[in-house]
Amino acid sequence: MKYSLFNSSNSQDVIELFSAVFSVSEGESEGQTIGRLVSTLISSTPSNDLIGCVAIDNGRIVGCIFFSRFTVANGQVAFILSPVAISTELQGRAIGQRLINYGLGCLKSLNVELAFTYGDPAFYSKTGFEQISESVVKAPFPLSQPIGWLAQSLDGQPIQAIEGVTQCVEALSDPDYW
Ligand SMILES: CC(C)(COP(=O)(O)OP(=O)(O)OC[C@H]1O[C@@H](n2cnc3c(N)ncnc32)[C@H](O)[C@@H]1OP(=O)(O)O)[C@@H](O)C(=O)NCCC(=O)NCCS
Repeated sequence: MKYSLFNSSNSQDVIELFSAVFSVSEGESEGQTIGRLVSTLISSTPSNDLIGCVAIDNGRIVGCIFFSRFTVANGQVAFILSPVAISTELQGRAIGQRLINYGLGCLKSLNVELAFTYGDPAFYSKTGFEQISESVVKAPFPLSQPIGWLAQSLDGQPIQAIEGVTQCVEALSDPDYW
């Protein structure tokens, strides 16, 4: 398995991967929704605000994650991880964890200070994410599952409470997603 940065020449393969994986795990309609979300994320996000990573097996993309810029009021540099997909037939073999760790390493090398995500704490805690209260850092939209609001510090400093609102990129700015 090879891990590398996403390149826009991989866009179609990646959109198809997300559509297929989520169609199996969440149903056809959710698969289409996530496929559209990824397509919008790639096309509408300024390149400085988007970092994708892919897992490649024998030349085929079998996993993909995206981090996009997450604006917090105290000026710290933050990105949010979403979405994440590993090919259905390869799930449960630690590829997801390795790909996320690869991505976190890329963020650290770019001096990103904070990483957020919103998802299953049982899975994301395997790569260092911890539950965070909205009294520490607010989510950009009301959360349907506050237990899934997760973060980690990438610079070795404890996460400090950050006053004020936060903002995600346009593609993630849909209340239904939260
Ligand atoms: C969730 C997902 C990214 C995990 O990647 P993975 O490579 O399968 O996971 P890993 O092998 O690194 O880690 C295994 C852990 O993932 C979690 N997990 C969640 N869904 C899982 C699945 N369908 N299959 C296997 N593990 C899953 C479990 O916590 C598991 O830990 P355990 O073995 O202690 O029970 C992947 O299964 C996937 O793409 N699922 C469908 C889409 C999705 O739900 N994406 C995340 C939300 S954006």
